[in-house]
Amino acid sequence: MRGSDRPRIAILISGTGGNMDEIIRSCRSGQLEAETAIVISDNPDAPGVKKARSARIETFVSRYRKERPREENESEIADVIVKRGIDWIVLAGFMRVLSPGFVKMFRGRIVNIHPALLPSFPGAHAIRDALKAGADFTGVTIHIVDELVDHGPIIAQEEVPILPNDTEESLAERIHEAEHRLYPRTLQQLFHDDI
Ligand code: GAR
Repeated sequence: MRGSDRPRIAILISGTGGNMDEIIRSCRSGQLEAETAIVISDNPDAPGVKKARSARIETFVSRYRKERPREENESEIADVIVKRGIDWIVLAGFMRVLSPGFVKMFRGRIVNIHPALLPSFPGAHAIRDALKAGADFTGVTIHIVDELVDHGPIIAQEEVPILPNDTEESLAERIHEAEHRLYPRTLQQLFHDDI
C-alpha cells in the first residue's frame, strides 16, 4: 500500500539473487524502509533461494509445469502473496512472463528490473544482445510491470557504457553493480512517494 510505513514486499527470483541480496540488506540497514516478507521462486535450485534461507527470510518455491497453463502455474504464487498481505511485488531476475490476469490482480504494484535501457533490448538476453548489436552504451531500467514483456511505466534508468574490450561477463559485472545501487534506492522512492 503506497505510503505505509514499512510496506511488505515479496521478491520474486529465478536465479542468483544478487538484486534480492541487496534489497534484503537495504531493508535491514534501514536505507530501504520496507520489510522483505517472503522470497518466491519458480526454480527450486535457484542459488537465491538458498541465500534467502540463510538470511532467514521465508521462501516459497512454486515449480512451473509445462503441461499447465500459465495462470495455473501462477495461482499458487498469487495465493501466497494475498495471504501474506504483500504490498509490493518486486521482480529481481524472475524469468517468467506474468499473465495478464496476474498483472491485473496486482496492477501498479509489480516492479521489475531489466539489464538494458528499455525499450532497447527487451527479453532474456539483454546484455548479450546489446553487445552483439555493437551499441556504445546500454544500462539498467526499473519499471512498473504491465501486460507486455519488459514493458510498462519507467521509473528509473541508468546508463552503462560498453567498453571496446568488453565481454558479456565484464559488461554484466558493471550492469549488476549499477542494478545493485539503483534498485534499493528507487524502491525507497517509489514506496515513499518520492516518485
Ligand atoms: C538481473 O540482471 C536482472 O536485471 C535480469 O536478471 C538478472 C538477475 O540477476 N532480469 C531480466 O533480464 C528480466 N528481463 P540476480 O538474480 O543476480 O538479481
